Amino acid sequence: MSPNRRVYLDHSATTPADPRVVEAMMPYLTERFGNPSSVHFFGQDARGAVDSARRQIAGLIGARSNEIVFVSGGTEANNLAIRGLCEAVEPQGRHIITSSIEHSSVRGICEALEKRGWKITRLPAYEDGIVRVEDVRSALRPDSVLISVMLANNEIGTIQPIQEIGAIVRQERTRGRKHLWLHTDAVQAAGRIPIEVEQLGCDFLSLSAHKLYAPKGAGALYVRRGVRVLSQNVGGHQERERRAGTEAVPGIVAFGAAARIARDELDQRNDNAKELREKFEAAVAERVSDVVFNGHRERRLSHISNISFRFIEGQSLLISLDLEGIAVSTGSACSSGTLEPSPVIRALGRNDELARGSIRFSFGKDNAVADVDYVVEVLSRVSEKLRRMSPLTQEAMASRRVPQTVGRD
Ligand SMILES: Cc1ncc(COP(=O)(O)O)c(C=O)c1O
Repeated sequence: MSPNRRVYLDHSATTPADPRVVEAMMPYLTERFGNPSSVHFFGQDARGAVDSARRQIAGLIGARSNEIVFVSGGTEANNLAIRGLCEAVEPQGRHIITSSIEHSSVRGICEALEKRGWKITRLPAYEDGIVRVEDVRSALRPDSVLISVMLANNEIGTIQPIQEIGAIVRQERTRGRKHLWLHTDAVQAAGRIPIEVEQLGCDFLSLSAHKLYAPKGAGALYVRRGVRVLSQNVGGHQERERRAGTEAVPGIVAFGAAARIARDELDQRNDNAKELREKFEAAVAERVSDVVFNGHRERRLSHISNISFRFIEGQSLLISLDLEGIAVSTGSACSSGTLEPSPVIRALGRNDELARGSIRFSFGKDNAVADVDYVVEVLSRVSEKLRRMSPLTQEAMASRRVPQTVGRD
């Protein structure tokens, strides 16, 4: 039986395409179908559209348009930045500093490089989910070539001190260190907080279209002028030799339009998300027992709320909410039949139970107060029901760890 209403609270996973974005993209799926590498009218028309989108993306982050490389999404942007730089500078050093709460794409790339003999320092994120600048400074070694720390976390939304890390990199350069670069994954942050690459002091910055109300399949990597990356795709001259392959013109045009709209509507979207999230968190604290809020309370994106529900598996809660028409996500993943706790929530020092019981609620521009009311009502009902059935609650009762009304550790 399908639910009577649906509430989408998973905007950090992906966003629906904005109708204005679809309208901008449509001609490039139909009559304006040229290949930007073609010399004729159709090709040059498509080239013009790609260049205009490049300017719009550059405008969102304060970059020059020739510093934008179009790719297929955030994962590819991260691959191009990290592998593309590391392969280019390997003779200068083989040490990377990153954080323990990066997106799986950055984590995966670092693990792959580690298998090839690279040394990786993974910085702690402490209980509030924020990397400390002093830790970055003390992790630096003579062979460090890259610092890769995300601008905002995708599970708990915490905003990282990239500008301060950028200042360390600049300081190191003035001291004569030539081979140290800074990458930041801004996939979640873009369109949510103002971004100025010069201010951040980063050399690379990753973006993804589908988190910004554009369709999936487009992304961009900002590469600071003068910085070299080795293309991970070969066999074509596109994107000034940095990413071979015909540009995905409709997706790129959509991405450009979405970036322009996101910049114009940034404040309005943030105000709306913040209002909904505050209302939501206050109501959850009041109506649902044994919850733990994750991540720094202030230094975080306005639309993400991450909550651990004691004595409940996040996956069971997710499925129960889905049956009631509510879409959310959990950082814990099913791997070979067992539930792996979310590595991000574990990195905050939470135990496995809390890391398995965490749920991310991420609000979007089209959510309304009625959505919050519905979700809180369902959440209080469903969480109680799951707890009554949960072996975790029974274990807790047996060891006299009786659920309390509100937990906030
Ligand atoms: C922080 C972060 N980086 C990278 C990605 C990957 O982006 P994409 O889905 O465009 O490959 C995501 C997607 O969830 C993300 O949240």
